Amino acid sequence: MPNLAAKLHIKNIQQVLYQALSEAKILPKKIDYIAYTKNPGLIICLQIGKTVAETLSLYLNKPLIPVNHLEGHIYASLINQEKEWEFPALALIISGGHTQIYQLNNHFEFVLLGETLDDAIGECLDKSAILLGYNYPGGPIIEKLALTGKNTYQLPFPKNDDSLDFSFSGLKSEISRLVNQEGKKINDNNLACSLQNILAEILTKKLKKAWTISRAKTIIIGGGVSANKFLRNYLTKNIKKWDKEIKIFIPEIKYSTDNAAMIGILTYYKINFKYGFQAKK
Ligand code: KG4
Ligand code: ZN
Repeated sequence: MPNLAAKLHIKNIQQVLYQALSEAKILPKKIDYIAYTKNPGLIICLQIGKTVAETLSLYLNKPLIPVNHLEGHIYASLINQEKEWEFPALALIISGGHTQIYQLNNHFEFVLLGETLDDAIGECLDKSAILLGYNYPGGPIIEKLALTGKNTYQLPFPKNDDSLDFSFSGLKSEISRLVNQEGKKINDNNLACSLQNILAEILTKKLKKAWTISRAKTIIIGGGVSANKFLRNYLTKNIKKWDKEIKIFIPEIKYSTDNAAMIGILTYYKINFKYGFQAKK
């Protein structure tokens, strides 16, 4: 997979760059800064992005700004948004590689409160879909299956304790056990619905614990799994019950999964808040 990903990056990067400039109707000379994703991610793909960004920066004579992918998922919630976060804020990252809760006392002051000890939540969805015989990415498939399913399977809540850490590998093992035990009798729709429900319950419980400690004024939810409409609604409904004054920021669905716009907005905030330059939003 890393080799395939690298080949596709090399094959597509130029076309992506041309298309992005043409859709944004921007000439290269109008660009003020060049940002790229430094980490985390597949090294070989990050390296391709870095090389292209460095070349552009040198050619256009514009500053080069390396940024963090996970921070991008959090700042994606500020795209097309008039309102700003109020601090302290909590950020829940739910993606294919990460499940983490951060406290933010100001822009770029991240304090890690808890994270998964094994699989990420997206990985759990992806592996579960594969166990049921579907393809990658599993998240959107599970979401679609769950639309016509019922919450009938009793799935475990791993790491149901007082910590802010998560664990998802036990859920995948339980799904594997059910698939082996029930064979063709398994109801994919009900299992998908049950999985979404237990994941929503886990995220809500851990987030509430973090909020009780931090009394955050803002809760931000980002990462590919935040594209899931059921999880977005479930979390929003519950957070409002804790305190209806909490500001909830979730990126628009098209900016929830990996995208370059989130790297753009993150860089805008970084330039203005961290480096003290002035940039237009
Ligand atoms: O953030 P992302 O695009 O890539 C990483 O940084 O990992 O997240 C990808 C993850 C995958 O596990 C994918 O199955 C999941 O996000 N995902 C979803 C949905 N769309 C993508 N999970 C649940 N429901 C969705 N609609
Ligand atoms: Zn991501």
